[in-house]
Amino acid sequence: MWLFGYGSLIWRPDLEYEDSKVGYIKGYVRRFWQSSTDHRGTEEAPGRVVTLIPYDEFSSKFTDHDQHSIDQDDITWGVAYKIPESKVAETKAYLDHREKNGYDTHFLDVYQPDSDVPVVEKAIVYIGSTDNSEFAGPAPLDSIAEQIYHSHGPSGPNKDYLLNLAQAFRTVAPHGNDGHLFELEAKVKELMRKDAGSQEAFDLL
Ligand code: BEZ
Repeated sequence: MWLFGYGSLIWRPDLEYEDSKVGYIKGYVRRFWQSSTDHRGTEEAPGRVVTLIPYDEFSSKFTDHDQHSIDQDDITWGVAYKIPESKVAETKAYLDHREKNGYDTHFLDVYQPDSDVPVVEKAIVYIGSTDNSEFAGPAPLDSIAEQIYHSHGPSGPNKDYLLNLAQAFRTVAPHGNDGHLFELEAKVKELMRKDAGSQEAFDLL
């Protein structure tokens, strides 16, 4: 079994695997459009984590607030992990529990540049569809950044999820791009700088 990660699985696979390949899936756009009330936020103050939006729905149904940042059309970079045969059942059970908040499993081919032949066929991918109960949907990037900056959940601060994902993405897929992710990273870092600045000013009083 191969598992394709495009979110926390990129920087925190925390599962046993015997091989991994960096690549992309076609036909989806990664967005911070899934609510997180169990990991990076709470019921009262949900955080936001990534899901994949089918490209045809994305372009027909939603008024994205950052359409300009779709720089690689309908592909999403990530990492495919090969799960040892002996660990498949355990891994599936673990992920089904870990990702119980609105995600379903899909099977998608994983590609690398310069070939139309998939490097991995039918990898399992966890996707929160646009009609799942935790789907938060689009919002202006500034308000998504504010929400991520302020949210915390049992797995830690929402901003760590974003910053770790952006950093890991740069390392594993230096030729890939994701304007939505990097613009959010820049906005959250700006909020951190502003807060550090006000704390310094406060400390000087
Ligand atoms: C991931 O691919 O990292 C992932 C995304 C959503 C749910 C579970 C895993």
